[in-house]
Amino acid sequence: MVGCTLLILGLLASAALPLSSSDPNDEACLINLSQSLEDPTNSLHNWTKSNLANPCNGFNSYIHGATCNSGRIYKLSLNNLSLRGSISPFLANCTNLQALDLSSNFLTGPIPSDLQYLVNLAVLNLSANRLTDQIPQELAFCAYLNVIDLHDNLLTGQIPQRLGLLVRLSTFDVSNNHLSGPIPSTLANRSGNLPKFNASSFYGNKDLYGYPLAPMKNRGLSVIAIVGIGLGSGLVSLVLSFTAVCIWLKITERKMVAEEGKISQLMPDY
Ligand SMILES: *[C@@H]1O[C@H](CO)[C@@H](O)[C@H](O)[C@H]1NC(C)=O
Ligand SMILES: *[C@@H]1O[C@H](CO)[C@@H](O)[C@H](O)[C@H]1NC(C)=O
Ligand SMILES: *[C@@H]1O[C@H](CO)[C@@H](O)[C@H](O)[C@H]1NC(C)=O
Ligand SMILES: *[C@@H]1O[C@H](CO)[C@@H](O)[C@H](O)[C@H]1NC(C)=O
Ligand SMILES: *[C@@H]1O[C@H](CO)[C@@H](O)[C@H](O)[C@H]1NC(C)=O
Ligand SMILES: *[C@@H]1O[C@H](CO)[C@@H](O)[C@H](O)[C@H]1NC(C)=O
Ligand SMILES: *[C@@H]1O[C@H](CO)[C@@H](O)[C@H](O)[C@H]1NC(C)=O
Repeated sequence: MVGCTLLILGLLASAALPLSSSDPNDEACLINLSQSLEDPTNSLHNWTKSNLANPCNGFNSYIHGATCNSGRIYKLSLNNLSLRGSISPFLANCTNLQALDLSSNFLTGPIPSDLQYLVNLAVLNLSANRLTDQIPQELAFCAYLNVIDLHDNLLTGQIPQRLGLLVRLSTFDVSNNHLSGPIPSTLANRSGNLPKFNASSFYGNKDLYGYPLAPMKNRGLSVIAIVGIGLGSGLVSLVLSFTAVCIWLKITERKMVAEEGKISQLMPDY
C-alpha cells in the first residue's frame, strides 16, 4: 500500500517535472535570439519574456514557430515572417535543436560559426535572406547535417571544402550568392555513393568556377587566348598596312605610267 502510494507520488512528480522545469540553455538561446531579431509585423507577439523563460510543456510549445520534444526546443521554423536583424550566436544554446528554418526573411549579418555547437542539427535552412560574410567551415562539426540550404543570400568567399566531410548531407544549395573560387570536389564529385551535388546547387555565383558549372565564356579567356588574340590582331594589322602600301604603290605606279604616256604623246615623234 505504502509502496504503491510512493510509486504514484513518484509518477506524479516525474510527470510534473517537465511542466515546472525549463531549460536554462533554451532560455538563453531564445532570449538572445528575440533580442537579435527585429519583428516589424509583430509575428512573434507570443514570444513574451515569461513564455521564453518556459517555452515548452513536454511536447507542446508556447511560442510561435517552435516545436518541443521532452521539454526542449527541437525545431524552430520562423520562415517568411518579414523578420529583420541578425542571427544570435547564442542560438547555439538551443543544444537539442534538430531543425532551424529562418528562410525567406530579411536577416542580415553573418551565419554565426557558433552554430557548430548544435551537434544534433540535421536541417539548416537560411535561404532567401540578406546574410553576408563567409560560410563558416565549422558547420562541418554538425555531423548530423542532412540539409544546408543557403540559396539567395549575399554570402562571399569560398565554399568550405570541409563541408564535403558531412556524410549525411543530401541537400546542399548555395545558389545565388556572391561566392567565389573553385567548387570543392568534396561536394561536386564526392567519393563512393555519397550524393553528388549538380550545377543547380551552385548557379548564380559570378566568381564560382569548376565542375559541375559549365566553363564561363569570358572566364575561358586564358592567358594563351589573350596572347593569341594579341598576336592575331597584330598580324592582321600588319597584313592590312602592307596591302595598303602595295595598293598605294600600284596607284602611284599607274599614275606615273599614265604621266609618261601623256609626256610621250606631247613629244614629237622623230
Ligand atoms: C550558453 O552558451 C554559452 C556559450 O557557449 C555558454 O557559456 C553558456 O554557459 C550557455 N548557457 C547559458 C545558460 O548561458
Ligand atoms: C544571452 O543570454 C544570457 C543568458 O540569458 C545572458 O546572460 C546574456 O546577457 C545574453 N546576451 C545578450 C547579448 O543578450
Ligand atoms: C502563438 O502564436 C501563434 C500564432 O502567431 C499561435 O498559432 C499559437 O497558438 C500561439 N501560442 C500560444 C501558446 O498562444
Ligand atoms: C509569405 O507570406 C505572405 C504573407 O505574409 C504570403 O502572401 C506568401 O504566400 C508567403 N509565401 C510563402 C512562400 O509561404
Ligand atoms: C528552405 O526554405 C525555402 C523557403 O522558405 C523552401 O522553398 C525550401 O524548399 C527550403 N529548403 C529545403 C531544402 O527544404
Ligand atoms: C571525379 O573523381 C574521379 C575520381 O574520384 C575522377 O576520375 C573524375 O575525373 C572526377 N570528375 C571530375 C569532373 O572532376
Ligand atoms: C540536380 O539534382 C536535383 C536533385 O538533387 C534534380 O532535381 C535537378 O533536376 C538536377 N538539376 C540538373 C541541372 O541536373
